[in-house]
Amino acid sequence: MCGIIGYLGKKPIVPVLLEGLKRLEYRGYDSAGIVTLSNGKINLVKQAGKISNLESLLAERPINGVAGIAHTRWATHGVPNSTNAHPHTDCGNKFALIHNGIIENFGAIKTDLISKGHEFKTQTDTEALVHLIEEFYKHHMPFEEAVRAALLQVEGTYGIAVVCSDEPDVIIAARKGSPLVVGHGDGENFVASDVSAIIDHTKQVSYLDDDEMAVVRRNGIEVKTISNLPVQKQVEQVAFELGRIEKGGYDHFMLKEIMEQPSTIKDAMRGRLIKDEGIARLGGMHEVMEALLNAKRFLITACGTSWHAALIGEYMLEEFVRVPVEVEYASEFRYRDPVIEENNVVIVISQSGETADTLAALREAKRKGASVIGICNVVGSTIARDVHAGAYLHAGPEIGVASTKAFTSQVTLLALITLFLARHRNMSAAKGAEIVQEMAALPEKVEKILGLREQIKKIAQLYHMSNNFLYLGRGYNFPVALEGALKLKEISYIHAEGYPAAEMKHGPIALIDENMPVVFIATKDSTYEKIVSNIEEVRARRGKVIAIATEGDEEIGKRADHVIYIPQTQQMLQPILTIIPLQLLAYYIAIMRNCDVDQPRNLAKSVTVE
Ligand code: M6R
Repeated sequence: MCGIIGYLGKKPIVPVLLEGLKRLEYRGYDSAGIVTLSNGKINLVKQAGKISNLESLLAERPINGVAGIAHTRWATHGVPNSTNAHPHTDCGNKFALIHNGIIENFGAIKTDLISKGHEFKTQTDTEALVHLIEEFYKHHMPFEEAVRAALLQVEGTYGIAVVCSDEPDVIIAARKGSPLVVGHGDGENFVASDVSAIIDHTKQVSYLDDDEMAVVRRNGIEVKTISNLPVQKQVEQVAFELGRIEKGGYDHFMLKEIMEQPSTIKDAMRGRLIKDEGIARLGGMHEVMEALLNAKRFLITACGTSWHAALIGEYMLEEFVRVPVEVEYASEFRYRDPVIEENNVVIVISQSGETADTLAALREAKRKGASVIGICNVVGSTIARDVHAGAYLHAGPEIGVASTKAFTSQVTLLALITLFLARHRNMSAAKGAEIVQEMAALPEKVEKILGLREQIKKIAQLYHMSNNFLYLGRGYNFPVALEGALKLKEISYIHAEGYPAAEMKHGPIALIDENMPVVFIATKDSTYEKIVSNIEEVRARRGKVIAIATEGDEEIGKRADHVIYIPQTQQMLQPILTIIPLQLLAYYIAIMRNCDVDQPRNLAKSVTVE
C-alpha cells in the first residue's frame, strides 16, 4: 500500500527520495509526490500514475533542498489523481505531510477547521491532519507540539512524516497502526515505511511502535511517545542484501520469486529438520512451548494467500496431531467475537507481517487470553513483534504483489509445526523419519517442476484468451485450487474460481462448455479415483481439462487435454509441489495478456488498511 520515505542529509535529495520510492513500488500505488525544503519554503511536485510520471514532471520543474519527504499513494479517500496525491499542504504552504493509514474522524475535523476558515483542496482524509497541525501552530505551539496535539485528536491509523518550512532541519514521523522505521546514517538520517526504501544508504534501523513519534534531525533521531515520554529505541542491523530486492536477470520479480523456491523452501527448513530422530526443531517457540504441547484446539487466521496456507495447515494438524483446527479470515475473526477457550492456540500467518486485519485478529486473540504464534516472512514486522512466539519463513523479500515463494514456505513451516507436535503426541519415529526424508527432498522436486516452464508456456498460449477458469482439487489440493485461481485472477484479470472438486456438481458444472478450461489437481493420493470421475464429468460437457498429475500416471493422459506431471511426495506435502505449475501458468497467461504482473491493478503488497 502507500509508501513513505523521508531524508535529511547532504546527498542530492531528489535522487535519494525517488530511488526510495522506486523500492516501495512493489507495495502497489496509483500516484506519487515529493516535497523538499529550501530557502524557507516548500517545493511540492506530485503526479497521478507511475513514479516515472513524477520523474518526467520533476525534469520539467526541478526542485532541490536538504530535507524532503516523498510518498506513493494507494487511494482510499478520493480518486487517484494528482490533487489527491500526497504530500498534502496547509493553507499557508508551511507544512507538508505524507500519510499511510486512514483518519476515521477526518469528517468532523474538517468541518470544524472549515468553520475556522481553512480551505481544503483535496478529497482525502489526510488533508485534515495537515490543516489541524497548522491550526495548532497558528496558536503559537512549536512544530513538534503542534504535530503531537493534532495526532491526539486523530482516530484511526497512521504512519506519517511531516515537514515545516520554518524548521528545515527536522522531519517528524509518527506511527499508530501503520509501519514506520527510522534509518540511522552518518550525518544523514531517514524515515520510511519499509526498510527496502533506505537499504541503499543504511542498514542501521529502529522500528517505531504504535503511539511513538520520532524527531529526525541530520545528526540524531529522538524517539518519544505521543504523550511526550522519552523512549530508548534499539538500533537493529537489517540483514537482507540489496541483491535480494533486485530482479537478478529475470523479467519480473514474480518469476524470480517462483524460480527461487527450491532455495527458499530449503531455507524454511534449515536447521529445523532432525533426520536421525524424525522430528522438527522450532527454536522460536520456547515462549509458548507448554501451550503448544497442551493445545486442545488451534485457530488459524490470515488473509489471501496466507489464508490458503492456513487451510492446508488445518488438514495437516487434524490428520497428524488429531486436534481440532479452525481457519478463519482475519477480517471476520476480528469482528466476530470468536470463542477462545483455555488451551486454545491461535496461529497468525502473514508474509508481510503488516496486514491490518491479521494484526487486529492477533490483538483480539491476545486480548482474549490465547497464546499466539506468528508465521511471518518480514523480519521485525509488526505482527512478528506482537506475537508471543513464532517462526520466520526466511524466504527473503517478496516483491511481486502475487505471493508465491512465501506460500510454499508457509506450508513448509506448517508441516514442520505438524511434525513437531505429532512426534510429541502419537506419531511413530518411523513415520516421522519418512516425513523428514520427504521434506528434505522437496527442493529438488520443485526444481524439476520448474524445468517444465516451456510446456506450461505452451498451455498458457492456448488458453490465455479465455474469459473464465475453474480450478478443482480435493483434500490437501483443495486449498491449492483456491490459490491457483487467486494467482490467475490477481495478475491476469481473468475470472477464476477454485472449488473442492466434488462441489462442482452443486453449481459450477453449469458453467462448463467447450470454452471453459478446468484445471484439475489430480495427484495419486487417497482421493485420486474420485477426482478422475470429476474429470470425466467435465469431459462429458466438452470442458477443456488441464491436469496436474503424478509422474507415471498414464491413465490421466487418456482423459485430460493436457497433463503436467510432477514428482510423487507425501500427501500432506503435495501442495508445495502442485502449486508450482499453477504459479507458472498464471504468470505466463498474464504476460501473454500484457499485464503488469509485479504490480497488478488495484492491488497492494501489504494491505495496511481495513
Ligand atoms: O502479507 P500477508 O501474507 O498478510 O498478505 C495477505 C494477502 O494480502 C496476500 O496474500 C494477497 O492475497 C496476495 N496478493 C496474494 O497473492
